[in-house]
Amino acid sequence: MTKLWAGRFCTSTNEKVERFQASIFFDRRLYEEDILGSAIHAKMLHLIGILDKEEIKSVLGGLKEVLHKFHTAEVSVKYADEDIHMLVENLLREEIGPLAGKLHTGRSRNDQVALDMHLYFRKSSLTAIYLILTLVETLAELSKTNIDVTLPGYTHLQRAQPVLLSHHLLAYGWMFLRDAKRFFDTYHACNISPLGSGAIAGSTFPLDREYVRQQLKFSSFYPNSMDAVSNRDYLLDYLNSASTCMMHLSRLSEEIVLWASAEFRFIELSDNFCTGSSMMPQKKNPDVPELIRGKSGRVYGSLFGLYTLLKGLPLTYNKDMQEDKEGAFDAEYTLTNSLSLMEGLLKEAKFLEVSMKYATENDFSNATDLADYLVQ
Ligand code: ARG
Repeated sequence: MTKLWAGRFCTSTNEKVERFQASIFFDRRLYEEDILGSAIHAKMLHLIGILDKEEIKSVLGGLKEVLHKFHTAEVSVKYADEDIHMLVENLLREEIGPLAGKLHTGRSRNDQVALDMHLYFRKSSLTAIYLILTLVETLAELSKTNIDVTLPGYTHLQRAQPVLLSHHLLAYGWMFLRDAKRFFDTYHACNISPLGSGAIAGSTFPLDREYVRQQLKFSSFYPNSMDAVSNRDYLLDYLNSASTCMMHLSRLSEEIVLWASAEFRFIELSDNFCTGSSMMPQKKNPDVPELIRGKSGRVYGSLFGLYTLLKGLPLTYNKDMQEDKEGAFDAEYTLTNSLSLMEGLLKEAKFLEVSMKYATENDFSNATDLADYLVQ
């Protein structure tokens, strides 16, 4: 296995070290971003005269082949591949020979990993916005179709004042709209190109950062290369947005769990979103909202994990930073699934209008309104 950095080493890597330091099993999902970034970097190298006509044709053709291999699952991964950047270059070498090494001109894995993560989480932010807005749309539709339904509004979990179900549901709608805005800000934080920063201090080659920025549709590039390779704020932003959104989903989940209980009986969840008990045949368990509530914890965990990871790091890239990925990918997976499952669950649920009305009309939940009336 050719290692990009093997030149000054006399012995091969200890096997345990090789495993310990490899990120390939969790960063291989960045293959599309890595290949796209490589193709644009190659085109830029051609523009500034480093790759000639034949070479650029060969590099781009080779990268296309590598992408095809990933898409058709022909790539088998070993610890020795180390990370996605080395794997893509090694696969390219299999396609086009030593010319693959020339692609690394003016580039380091430090700005490469930064680029891949910016691209990946820029896209993930848009996905989150899309899923959030879909959920808000469902909440709005449910509000419309249940416009006459009333229920007690609660404070301290005590019946307080009668409210419309739409009022209650749209309170969540507004929370989720703020989440969408937070992800929009996250999108902007991810929309900056780090390419051209090299390992830390740029390159002696006259790299055209503006060309790369335009091709990758970034709104700007980092003015400071040291900041570019060591910045993980955009990931903190993503995790913070995801945590707040999970917190909102978790609060809604908690209400659904309560409402689905015999004590409230405000909602009937669809069978295909619940499971039963192996011992108590009468039960229908609200697993989905319970799990969304439970999984919010791991997303906060990823956010705090990343803060802790970063707090003692000197500039610029440190290998510690490789640890940013699993938590962030896990948070993205958890958030995406939670949002779409919540939307599906709400769409199929039935609001139990009669028991909501009964609860509204009993226990003096309109006492304040009566008092106001008497005063007037
Ligand atoms: N796999 C590394 C990461 O995820 C890529 C950057 C490695 N850079 C280096 N100088 N070893 O952070």
